[in-house]
Amino acid sequence: MNPVRIGICGLGTVGSGTVNILTRNKAHIDARAGCNISIVQIGARRDNPNVDTSKFNVTRDIFEVANNPDVDVLVEVIGGTTIAKDLVLKAIENGKHVVTANKALIAHYGNEIFAAAKAKGVTVAFEAAVAGGIPIIKAIREGLAANNIEWLAGIINGTGNFILTEMRDKGRSFDDVLAEAQALGYAEADPTFDVEGIDAAHKLVILASLAFGIPLEISKVFTEGITKIASEDVTYAEELGYRIKNLGIARRTDKGIELRVHPTLIPEKRLIANVDGVMNAVLVKGDAVGPTLYYGAGAGFRRRRKKASLASL
Ligand code: HSE
Repeated sequence: MNPVRIGICGLGTVGSGTVNILTRNKAHIDARAGCNISIVQIGARRDNPNVDTSKFNVTRDIFEVANNPDVDVLVEVIGGTTIAKDLVLKAIENGKHVVTANKALIAHYGNEIFAAAKAKGVTVAFEAAVAGGIPIIKAIREGLAANNIEWLAGIINGTGNFILTEMRDKGRSFDDVLAEAQALGYAEADPTFDVEGIDAAHKLVILASLAFGIPLEISKVFTEGITKIASEDVTYAEELGYRIKNLGIARRTDKGIELRVHPTLIPEKRLIANVDGVMNAVLVKGDAVGPTLYYGAGAGFRRRRKKASLASL
């Protein structure tokens, strides 16, 4: 089998999970990919107790990975948009393919990064940037390729959905649930991104760019989070037969593509109204296929894997 040598930069929740899954499921992954995938280097400023890196070549200098001639594919999971951008552009300059889970990076600098990758003849893959465990990028790009997409709408921030669900189900306070989401590793380094809708806006522009073939323009998204939602709002919505969900919505209109993130009242019988906790879901309406719905974990895979069962669906 062909060797594919990867370098992973970042050992946070996503990076440690990536190393663990690549190690645990190596035989399956290699068989499906038809190549021998090996981690040749890990770049991380600090260790993570959730992953054993003793068998790997670990460097504290992530740019060493981008400059390592033995690395074919650089996996960027450090987050942020400053060092991550330099790192990704350096890897591309050095002729490496890039895999990133960094939605903020793609939303803000994707146009520049994809142009650089095209010029170098390398690929930038970003499936995990939106709705983590749901292969929504592939579904839009390939599964729905024959469709003219009319609109899409999704619960694409797990932390926000977790907060709204706990407020409704257990009457817990916003701050209390947010603290738990942070402790569980669901939230962004800056949780404002989760609760003010910014993280969802990043993901929405990525989905809209793929669905409608438009450039990535984060400034075009109307963005509102859930910080103004009080417990009373959740209770009144319930009494009226609705659930409050913070949706990212992209819709084709006569004037162009509408992009918005904001709290929405959804009739409680709708499937998407019942997407609870840290789970994500994306509805996509294609002209040929009609409405389709994709559901799965958006954040916090490591902890959920132990608990989830068929019954929980
Ligand atoms: N903070 C993000 C969320 C992580 O809660 O959805 C996954 O992108």
